[in-house]
Amino acid sequence: MSDEIVYINGEKFKILIPEKEIKRRVKELGEQISRDYAGSIPIFIGVLNGSVIFFADLVREIKIDCEIDFLKLSSYGDEKISSGRVKLLKDLDCQVTGRDIIVVEDIIDSGLSIKFIKNLIMLKNPKSLRIVTLLYKKSRAQVDFDIDYIGFEIGDEFVIGYGLDYAQKGRNLKAIYVIDTQ
Ligand code: IMP
Ligand code: MG
Repeated sequence: MSDEIVYINGEKFKILIPEKEIKRRVKELGEQISRDYAGSIPIFIGVLNGSVIFFADLVREIKIDCEIDFLKLSSYGDEKISSGRVKLLKDLDCQVTGRDIIVVEDIIDSGLSIKFIKNLIMLKNPKSLRIVTLLYKKSRAQVDFDIDYIGFEIGDEFVIGYGLDYAQKGRNLKAIYVIDTQ
């Protein structure tokens, strides 16, 4: 059982998505992606650091052959609001050209990061490109393309846990928590 309330950097967070619910949904996503990519050997691209926990759980629910690689973008800094700037800190090592690529994100908030990633990968001429995100802030995201696989849609709220941080802390929490402003 995960705790219902946690304090990170002196702020109070309450549980939003319990561990069991995350597990169930990640398994479902893995099964769906495995079916959709039958006959292919896709490359899963994890976006560091936030997606590592989701990434590790998701690829272990993949039933077909696959490869993995990572890229890293500049982070939010230590704030709860995006700087609005995206910079590439680590590029891919794998050969993207002609391959089926699946980008694995922890969360899509403004959509700025995923737009940047999509442009970056499309320049390398993949055979296909799809996106999977654990969390999607639908009311905030400004994207003019489909997000192919979504774990959970959430409101315009700051969340942590299961890879997501607040000033680098909280990534190791097993559940997803939302800031409790009361
Ligand atoms: P976007 O570029 O605004 O879509 O933000 C994407 C990145 O910001 C995510 O990959 C996260 O690393 C971070 N982020 C966005 N919303 C949250 C949040 O609620 N909690 C923690 N990190 C977040
Ligand atoms: Mg991220």
